Order: sequence, then C-alpha cells, then structure tokens
Amino acid sequence: MSHTTDLYTKYVLNTARRSLTLVRGEGRRIWDDAGKCYLDFGGGIAVNCLGHAYPAMVKALAEQAARIIHTSNLYFNDPAGRLAERLVKHLGGSGKIFFTNSGAESNECILKLARRAGHATGRFEIITALNSFHGRTFGGIAASGQDKLKSGFEPMLPGFTHVPYNDLAAVEAAITPRTIAVLIEGIQGEGGICPATPEYLLGLRALTKARGIMLLIDAVQCGHFRTGRYQSYQRILEGTAGAEGFQPDALSMAKSLGGGFPIGAAWISEEYENVLGPGTHNTTYGGSPLASAAANVVLDAIETEKLDANIRARGDELLAGLKPMIGKSGMVAVRGLGGLIGMAFEQEVASDMVKKFSDAGLLTIAAGTKVVRFLPALNVTSSEIEEGLGIVRGAFNA
Ligand SMILES: Cc1ncc(COP(=O)(O)O)c(C=O)c1O
Repeated sequence: MSHTTDLYTKYVLNTARRSLTLVRGEGRRIWDDAGKCYLDFGGGIAVNCLGHAYPAMVKALAEQAARIIHTSNLYFNDPAGRLAERLVKHLGGSGKIFFTNSGAESNECILKLARRAGHATGRFEIITALNSFHGRTFGGIAASGQDKLKSGFEPMLPGFTHVPYNDLAAVEAAITPRTIAVLIEGIQGEGGICPATPEYLLGLRALTKARGIMLLIDAVQCGHFRTGRYQSYQRILEGTAGAEGFQPDALSMAKSLGGGFPIGAAWISEEYENVLGPGTHNTTYGGSPLASAAANVVLDAIETEKLDANIRARGDELLAGLKPMIGKSGMVAVRGLGGLIGMAFEQEVASDMVKKFSDAGLLTIAAGTKVVRFLPALNVTSSEIEEGLGIVRGAFNA
C-alpha cells in the first residue's frame, strides 16, 4: 500500500471505490504515482473539458488568485458578472443565473424554485424519470429515480413521482392538481447514457406549457457543449420541426462549466426569475471570482478553438470505431453524442471492463453496472481517439 492509500484508509471516509493515485495531468493524459501514463477518457466524470493543465486555465487561476479568490455573496465581482452574461446569452438572452458549487446544489436551487413557485397554489409535486440521477443531497436523492441512492436514508423528501424515461404518456398520467414541475436529464448520464428523443422533449414542453407546469432540465452532465452543442436538447432537436425556440423553465449545470474548478449554476427563465428573492436561497461560495475566472476560460477556449465542432467530430469517430466491437465480451450497444458515449453490456461487467481498460492505459468510467462511459475532453484529438480505440480493441482481444 502506498503512503497515499494508507492515509486514505486511515483518514478518509470510505464512500467511493477508489483505485489509482493520480499525481499529474497534461492535456488528455494523466499519470499515477508509479509513473504510469493513462489516456484520460474519464475526464474526472465529465468535468475536465479542456484536459489537464490547460495553459490559459493555469494562468487565469494564478492571476485571479493573486488578485482576489473569494468575496462571498454579499458583494459583486466582475468575473461572475461576465460569466452570468455569457451563460444567459447562450440560453437565448433572457432569464438569470444563480451560482452554486456543484451539480447537486444547482439541482437544489431549481427544486426549491419549483416548490416556491407552486407554494401559493398548493402545488409541490415534481415528476422525474426512473433511472435518473440528480445528486446526493436530500433533494437530489428524492428526485433521482434509483432506489439504491435512497436506501437507508428514508423517509425521503415528499412530493416526487418517478415515471419511465422517454415516455410522454407516463408523465401525463402522473400529473395531479398538485404537480408543479417535471425534471429530466437531456441525456441520462449515470443511468447509462440514454438520450431523450426529440418527440419526448417537444411533447414534454407542449404538455407542461398546456398544464401550467414547469419544465426543469438537469444539464449537469450532458450540458456545456459536451454533445457538440451548448445544451444536449439543442443537439437532439437539430432538424426537428417545431423545435425552434425550445426552452425549459430552468436548468442546472456544473461539471464542464468550470473545467475542473468546482462551480455550478442554475439558469432560471424570465418568467420565474423573481420567485427566489433576497433571503430565500443562497450560498457562501457561489460565483466566487476564482471559480468564475475558471469558467470564463472554459468558454473562451470553446469559442476560440471551436471545441463544439471538435467534440462533435471526435464523438462521431469514437462511435464509429466502437460500433464494430458490438458483440465482443457481451457488448450489446454503443450510444451517445459527442463526448458522452456509453458502451452497454448484457451482463453487469462495467467495473471489470473499466479496470481492464485502465490496466491497458485508458481511463473510462462506469455508469451503473452495465455501461462504460467515455467522457473525453472537448479538445481531444483525432489521434487520441484512435489511440483510445486501439486500447479498447486490444483489451477485448486479450
Ligand atoms: C445529471 C447529474 N445531475 C447531478 C449530478 C450531481 O453533481 P455533483 O456531483 O457535482 O453534485 C450529477 C453527477 O454526476 C449528474 O450526472
């Protein structure tokens, strides 16, 4: 056992199945404490969208840290103001941002928003999807459609109903006079990389509008250009008639937003932007100058290097390279968009496969027990995709 694993065993709560001790990263490569190099297609669970040690990120963090790191929510700061403007513009130009520090916190914000919006009329129920994942807070586990997240923490926060994903009729049937919102992921991430269909998205928007119900989207994993468009629903709805102007009422984000620096955010549409006022909701750290500076670097890089187009093309290459492997080791499907690709197996072998790929020099991440996720940085190159495919091929053939 290394000194680090020894320290973890003694002093860190054992809530995750940790494997390697990672010490350094550069670009899409990462090194462990034994000096072994890995191609990183796990990206710190869809977070490191610019890879590691991205020079402009390193510079901006150092410069911002030297100027001011934290102010608290009692004061304005310029990096957060600029970031909010950029996010709102990406979301159509109206509405407002609430900054948080994680995906779960961003979801807490939109769940509280919905509760508060429905309070005067006695509406508090929120419909979510089976197999969804919305974080580990009490709101997050209650919202998530997976029993294993709730087990032992009951009683749950009341008011959540779970229905099958991509099933519009099931949502309609679950609506009651107390329903205030429907919450879905654009692509279910932890649930196994399952994209929403265009019909589901458009149907949900029409249904919720007609019934005066909010549509909330959890874009923590699938958002922020991971699919090759700013939001996964924009990518999914490309070329679909009637999709122009599709907008949820609120959206949660985190992960790629900060490129590795912890920051999350909730976007709230103009219609609901006054529901949470002073004293109703807040956080000490949200939108710190340092976190916001990191998020601004991510947006700069995506814009100047056209990383949306890059990850779309690299994702297509990855899908095309993985598809011929269907049938190997019980692999039954490959699915996803851009830098959010899942390889599904018949059996519960995801963690074994992740270990196999890791031993062969490629980091990937399990999604549940049957799916392996590929979450490369948005600036991954074509030759790195080819290299990753070679490692996967080699592991299957071994
Ligand atoms: C869709 C989705 N929502 C929420 C979360 C929770 O985010 P965090 O771990 O930053 O709290 C995750 C994390 O994997 C996620 O994938």
